[in-house]
Amino acid sequence: MAKIKVELKERSYDIMIGCGNLPELASLVRQEKWGREVFVITDPLVNDLCGDTVRRGFKAKPVTLEVPRGERFKNLRVAEKLYDELARLGAHRDSLIVALGGGVIGDLAGFVAATYMRGIGYVQVPTTLLAQVDAAIGGKTGVNHPKCKNMIGAFYQPKAVFIDVSTIATLPARELRTGLAEVVKYGLIEDADFFKFLEANAHHLNTKAFEDEGTKRAALGLWQTIVGESAKIKALVVEKDERETKARMVLNFGHTVGHALESLTRYRAYNHGEAVAIGMRAAAKIARRLKLLDEEVEARLTALLEKLGLPTEIAGLPAKKIVDALAIDKKVIGGRVNFVLPERLGKVVIRDDVPLTLVKNVLNEMGAK
Ligand SMILES: NC(=O)c1ccc[n+]([C@@H]2O[C@H](COP(=O)([O-])OP(=O)(O)OC[C@H]3O[C@@H](n4cnc5c(N)ncnc54)[C@H](O)[C@@H]3O)[C@@H](O)[C@H]2O)c1
Repeated sequence: MAKIKVELKERSYDIMIGCGNLPELASLVRQEKWGREVFVITDPLVNDLCGDTVRRGFKAKPVTLEVPRGERFKNLRVAEKLYDELARLGAHRDSLIVALGGGVIGDLAGFVAATYMRGIGYVQVPTTLLAQVDAAIGGKTGVNHPKCKNMIGAFYQPKAVFIDVSTIATLPARELRTGLAEVVKYGLIEDADFFKFLEANAHHLNTKAFEDEGTKRAALGLWQTIVGESAKIKALVVEKDERETKARMVLNFGHTVGHALESLTRYRAYNHGEAVAIGMRAAAKIARRLKLLDEEVEARLTALLEKLGLPTEIAGLPAKKIVDALAIDKKVIGGRVNFVLPERLGKVVIRDDVPLTLVKNVLNEMGAK
């Protein structure tokens, strides 16, 4: 298993990445003495797919708490039900939560771990690509509020992030693509060589290889590299700025316009990665107009996103409404909209002085009305 350390003084932990390593979680928990009773929080689908594999190794069978699938269940009411169950079952400060699932489960179970009895230990066991490369790393936990996504939450680091890359082989193509948008983001913001690696391997980065046992093995090797490189970059950025005051803002590349698109379409038209893909192209176009970026990089970013099957055009939404939605995003600071703009492959800059008329023109160029 490869290990990447997230160095955060007394809150440091490892990201462990393997392929077929889920059964080893139990012995790790035992060896590290992370918790006497283990509670697995998961959803019914993930529980069916890999719950038994996780539970099998534990001497005392962990209790499993299931949460219905979907973003709309990432809320305080569901968290409260989990507190009720944990209390009923006698969970203590020395119990351990295992968050087994995608980013929804990771955020929700992490938040419950952060708040139950003022904080108990938890391990992230992400099973979607998006959660493996992004959501499970960095300790951002939380639930949605009717007024705003992820509004209630806490920075609370896990004991470890334990990744079994083979779990992604059952993901639908669209779920795999949403994670890929974040992967492309890492290459562009931090690592030109990784970006080039993605360009060279783009034709393999889909679910096709998972359909055949023979090709699946080789494909998972490639995914292990991709998850590892992405996790390294996320860990580096988190280390520089655990609580997202400045340096961590580079992770919002593509998210300014992305979030506006998601909220404007009430999280129905695009999934997160699709909105971020459009947002990354918009940021590149803005950077071009500000003469920060070469045409070649913008073209390469668009080509890579298209090869991966991610959208790069805004289908008919009104540009003015997108611009209005930018201003109410929670990442706006002091009334100014922050944009993370690329300067070259592997290098971005944060700017809060982009004229909104320029943004609107770029959105029009990308198909907005
Ligand atoms: N904390 C952070 O830093 C951070 C960062 C990015 C995103 N997020 C959050 O992550 C969430 C999105 O996460 P997501 O994209 O993983 O979505 P998700 O958690 O909703 O998972 C998507 C779907 O995939 C299913 N699934 C999970 N693992 C599977 C597997 N191995 N095979 C087949 N199906 C599987 C789930 O049941 C679910 O229906 C959002 O709530 C977002 O706010 C958090």
